[in-house]
Amino acid sequence: MSNRFPFLGYGLGLRKEHYPTIFKGSEPFSAEKGSDPLNIDWFEVLSENYLVPGGKPLYHLDRVREHYPVVMHGVSLSIGGNDPLNRNYLRDLKALAKRIEPHWISDHLCWTGTHGVNAHDLLPLPYTEEALKHVAARIVEVQDTLGRRILIENVSSYLTYTQSAMTEWEFLRAVAEQSDCLILLDINNIYVSARNHQFDPLDYLNGIPVERVQQFHLAGHSYSKNGEIIIDTHDNPVIDEVWELYIQAVRRFGEISTMIERDDNIPPLDELLLEMDKARILAKAVLQTGMAA
Ligand SMILES: [Fe+2]
Repeated sequence: MSNRFPFLGYGLGLRKEHYPTIFKGSEPFSAEKGSDPLNIDWFEVLSENYLVPGGKPLYHLDRVREHYPVVMHGVSLSIGGNDPLNRNYLRDLKALAKRIEPHWISDHLCWTGTHGVNAHDLLPLPYTEEALKHVAARIVEVQDTLGRRILIENVSSYLTYTQSAMTEWEFLRAVAEQSDCLILLDINNIYVSARNHQFDPLDYLNGIPVERVQQFHLAGHSYSKNGEIIIDTHDNPVIDEVWELYIQAVRRFGEISTMIERDDNIPPLDELLLEMDKARILAKAVLQTGMAA
C-alpha cells in the first residue's frame, strides 16, 4: 500500500500571462486564508522556468508561493533515456524544491533524447521487461537524490514499438510499484493514445492501482493535418469526451488533485477558471450523487 500526499483540490498551471490577474493589487490573493476570489486551490509550476537563480521568474514564484500551495512539474528528467541521469539538473531541482517547498514533484514516463542530444519531445518507451527495470531503477535513483517520492505522468503517443510485451497501463503500473513512486494520470493523454492506438480508455483506468494516483491533468488537444491522429498540444479547451473520461476516472480513483494544463494559445484566466470549476463540480457530483458518465 502506498501513502499518498494530501488532496490539494483544483488548480491551474502558473502562466506569466495571468500574473496581472493573480497579483491584482500589491499582494497575491490568499487561498490558504480562504479569501481567494478566483477559487484556485493550488498552482502547478514548470520546474525548468525557475532553475536559474535570481531574476523575475523566481521573484514572481516566491510571491505566488507565499499564498498558494505549489507543485513542481518537469520535462527534462528523461527517466527512460539511456544517457546517465543529469546530476546538475537534479541538483538544481532539489535546490528549487528547498526554496519553494512544493507539495510534490512530477515528470514524465518517457525519454527526451540520447547521446546528449535533446529531442525536445516526450518520446514513448517500448513496454518491455528491460525498459521496466531500467526506468524503475532510475526513478529510485531520482527519489533517493531528491529525498522524496516523485510522480510519473503518462505521455500521449503516436507510435508503438513491435518489441512491446505489455500494455502501457501494465507498464505504468509495474513502474510505479517497482520504484514505489506515485502516478500523475493525464486524462487527455489516455484519450489521445486510446484514439491513436485503438484501445479502450476504460481498460487503461481499470489497470491503474487506485492507491498510486496522486494527481490528474486535464487538457485539450489538436488533430494532425490529415485528421488521422490526435496530437497532445495543450492549446485548446478540454473536449466533452475527455470530460466523460474524467468522470469515469473520479468514479474509480475518488477525489484527486486536478489541474487544467494549458501550455499554448493561453486564454484569459476566466476561461481556465471555468474549466477548473467544471472539474470541481463534476467530481463533487460523481462523489455525492454517484453520477455516471
Ligand atoms: Fe499532462
